[in-house]
Amino acid sequence: MGNCLTANTHGSRALKDLLKELEAGTLSKSAMMRKIEDAAESQNIIDRNLRSAISLLERFKRISVEQHEERPSTFTMRGEIENVLVAFTNTLKQLPDLTINVQGDENLEVRSYAGIIWQILTNLLQNALKHGLPGGEGIIDIIYRVQREEGTDYLVIIFEDDGVGMPREVRDRMFEPFFTTNREGGGTGLGMNIVYNLIKQLDGTLHCVSNPDMGTRFVMKIPLISNGDANGQ
Ligand SMILES: Nc1ncnc2c1ncn2[C@@H]1O[C@H](COP(=O)(O)OP(=O)(O)OP(=O)(O)O)[C@@H](O)[C@H]1O
Ligand SMILES: [Mg+2]
Repeated sequence: MGNCLTANTHGSRALKDLLKELEAGTLSKSAMMRKIEDAAESQNIIDRNLRSAISLLERFKRISVEQHEERPSTFTMRGEIENVLVAFTNTLKQLPDLTINVQGDENLEVRSYAGIIWQILTNLLQNALKHGLPGGEGIIDIIYRVQREEGTDYLVIIFEDDGVGMPREVRDRMFEPFFTTNREGGGTGLGMNIVYNLIKQLDGTLHCVSNPDMGTRFVMKIPLISNGDANGQ
């Protein structure tokens, strides 16, 4: 939307200049063509950006509908992590210098929202590959366990990469919608905002520790649904 505003300002200015010069009678044909082309290009930019904003909103809508419809189920955490990794098979095959370690009880079963956890891990893995380890070289650790605190069982997931990390000004804004350091590369800046909202929806918490050249670590704590829970049907 920011790009639309800039393009709109630019286009309006080109048209205003055009009018001014027309009135003053100082306009050459080539200058007129240039101004018209300028305005047309601004229109194109606005058109492209509005289309991408519409498709983003569609994606948002779809995510909230999917969340709404998802019922909790009992699944193994290891299986869900493997489902995420399988979706990245082609990418990972091309990264021989990348190691992904998964640590946790292979048989650990949890009752929660598998689809939501899949989305969270998918976004984190995409980011670790794109931002943390852009050269494809490094280590990603995914550690999980269940931890009991004050009578509630939490699924704890630690997701970390030993990549480039983030300076403070990026880390502080990472969860804002549309914040991205990769606008030219087509980043929407919605990935971490979606992760944050999904974890909040599950009444969980998310913390990030990251420093330049010291990698990035996310710690998530998601309360599990017990079998006797009214929502846990
Ligand atoms: N593992 C990471 N290492 C370093 N920087 C990161 C990491 N994860 C996120 N970031 C930073 O946080 C910003 C926001 O991430 P987010 O997923 O919201 O957007 P994006 O990845 O840029 O865009 P999109 O998710 O649409 O591809 C990124 O642009 C990047 O600067
Ligand atoms: Mg992302």
